[in-house]
Amino acid sequence: MHPDERNPNNPALSRRLFLQAAAGAAAGAAAGAAPGASAGAAGSPASPGALQGEAPSAVATSDAPSVSLTLEVNGSRHDLRIEPRVTLLDALREQLQLTGTKKGCDRGQCGACTVLVNGRRINSCLSLAIMHQSDHITTVEGLAQPDGSLHPLQQAFLEQDAFQCGYCTPGQLCSAVGMLDEHRRRGVAAAALTDAEIRESMSGNLCRCGAYPQLLAAIRQAAEAQTGAAGNGARTGSCMQGSGMRTA
Ligand code: FES
Ligand code: FES
Repeated sequence: MHPDERNPNNPALSRRLFLQAAAGAAAGAAAGAAPGASAGAAGSPASPGALQGEAPSAVATSDAPSVSLTLEVNGSRHDLRIEPRVTLLDALREQLQLTGTKKGCDRGQCGACTVLVNGRRINSCLSLAIMHQSDHITTVEGLAQPDGSLHPLQQAFLEQDAFQCGYCTPGQLCSAVGMLDEHRRRGVAAAALTDAEIRESMSGNLCRCGAYPQLLAAIRQAAEAQTGAAGNGARTGSCMQGSGMRTA
């Protein structure tokens, strides 16, 4: 202890000692009242899961407040009653049983949960379901036609063998659909994208199996089919080595 801290006539130090004592008492009380809640006070930041509560995937619990909302997913409207804290990802998977959308990291790092909202790709694990009442949501289940014919990107993924375990595939597909549409809106022909541009545009979607070369080939195949310019005007660049995929 600094010698001056023992001086009872120093008001600043008296206040410091008081605060130290109060903090110690509060920590002791918290530890006694809630033994399981002491992890976040141990000096390390609380995890996202801890910030969301002990059951971040819960759609509703009996004693938690819930809200009514309607989501339009893949052209169908669904009336739900869920807690306000429920993410779009959990609402899709646990209430609507649309389990094609995957939960990888649950914190915006892997892209496995990518869906399209009004045509734009988002990480559904980072977005609350109640934010999307007036939106058009498309999941991987909504990419194929009602008659079962596959989306061109789905067909290209099959033909190019663009997956191994397939866990990242729904997010890759939704992200690729959104990515090609983003470029179309900017007036960039999909077939004119370089490999490097595709890789950068998809860098928010990770594939732990390392199927990046096949993913690139599939996206390029679909892009060229989309623009009707297969083999013409396509600028080729580097391969997809080391790429992750970042959702816009
Ligand atoms: S689960 Fe959403 S980004 Fe990983
Ligand atoms: S195919 Fe396994 S994570 Fe991408």
